[in-house]
Amino acid sequence: MVALEYSLSGKNGLTYRIETREIKEHDPALIKTVVDIDLMTWSEQTFSRYTAALMLRQGRTFVLLADNVPIGTCQCIRSWERPSEAVLFSISIRPGWRGRGLGTRFMEDVFDGLRRGGIRTVVLSVTAHNAQGIRKYEELFGFSVVGVLPDEYAKKEDEVLLRKVLQPDLIPVQALPDRS
Ligand SMILES: CC(C)(COP(=O)(O)OP(=O)(O)OC[C@H]1O[C@@H](n2cnc3c(N)ncnc32)[C@H](O)[C@@H]1OP(=O)(O)O)[C@@H](O)C(=O)NCCC(=O)NCCS
Repeated sequence: MVALEYSLSGKNGLTYRIETREIKEHDPALIKTVVDIDLMTWSEQTFSRYTAALMLRQGRTFVLLADNVPIGTCQCIRSWERPSEAVLFSISIRPGWRGRGLGTRFMEDVFDGLRRGGIRTVVLSVTAHNAQGIRKYEELFGFSVVGVLPDEYAKKEDEVLLRKVLQPDLIPVQALPDRS
């Protein structure tokens, strides 16, 4: 899937072709990429080779590419209780590429990909004390707070659950009374 292509001029004058790809067929070569970007980002590892592979095959992994080289990944799963809902579990961009607007574009591409796949809503969670992060998801991406997940990761921290509507449910049109 090519959701978006645009050029980015770096300070060195180079121009890169930026593209988002939705991985629909398992690609073992991407396992290392997912694990490496995760390790560059978090002190505590999110993905092992096994969970990265699981997300590539059974979930939905989106990859952000610059001149065909992966610079970001995003992992989503489909909700068990609400099959038309996706859970956006993780999104990260390689440190050197951050702060240039790519995260925002990548996120919008992911929403487009999910929407095209028939997903109607997307949820994600943010640590409750991260008020700035919560506000960002509300203001920048149109999420709304829908609940609290107490001590979600057994770290004595609550998570705030946010939901965004990607495409509203179709409301059945009621038959109008016959006035003839
Ligand atoms: C979050 C992240 C993907 C944003 O990418 P980016 O390319 O830096 O984003 P942009 O240049 O479009 O940033 C615009 C602003 O929106 C925020 N933003 C953009 N996309 C975001 C996203 N998907 N999630 C959270 N915030 C985001 C940025 O933090 C930035 O905020 P600031 O102006 O207060 O610094 C990137 O910074 C990253 O990988 N951070 C580490 C991992 C992380 O925090 N992931 C989100 C939680 S799982």
